[in-house]
Amino acid sequence: MSDTYESILKLRAIRDFEDRPIPEEQLEAVLKAAQWTGSSKNRQNWAFVVVDDARQKDRLTKAGDFTTPIAHAPVAICLVEEPEGYEFDTGRLAQNIMLAADAIGLATCPITLHRDEIAADVLKLPEGRRCRYAIAIGYAAPTAGAARFGGRKSLNELVHRNHYS
Ligand SMILES: Cc1cc2nc3c(=O)[nH]c(=O)nc-3n(C[C@H](O)[C@H](O)[C@H](O)COP(=O)(O)O)c2cc1C
Repeated sequence: MSDTYESILKLRAIRDFEDRPIPEEQLEAVLKAAQWTGSSKNRQNWAFVVVDDARQKDRLTKAGDFTTPIAHAPVAICLVEEPEGYEFDTGRLAQNIMLAADAIGLATCPITLHRDEIAADVLKLPEGRRCRYAIAIGYAAPTAGAARFGGRKSLNELVHRNHYS
């Protein structure tokens, strides 16, 4: 199996991070992976807001219900849907960011911003833009434990052939 395949299987959401910044070239490498994500009709209707200011991170935590990883991480990458952007594309962005980060030794946690009107205010998004998801990113703390909700459903439960049965 390729390293990519192994990485996909072992990628976990990490919620505790070391108290140290991400070097600029590492952050740029992750953002480049986001930049090269495919999108519907290659429209790239997205923008990335990199939040590393402590006060901004704190304000952002108010926009969702399970946002403590943002408070723990040195950086949150906020995924902004530009007008006519698709949530599917945002999902692809998120996974590319997470896998790229993992490949260079960083850990991540996707974060839902349930109250995206708060996120829009914090990030000063112009009219028509929305930010529903962010990725908390940093170096995994040695204490970073197992997933809050571990495991996966079996393939037997998930896979249907020719029709849903
Ligand atoms: C769309 C999406 C939104 C998520 N939102 C949050 C969140 O707001 N806070 C959080 O701590 N984890 C969040 N997670 C992480 C999931 O809880 C985690 O991926 C899931 O429990 C499986 O754990 P694992 O990825 O470590 O295997 C989110 C994951 C996805 C895919």
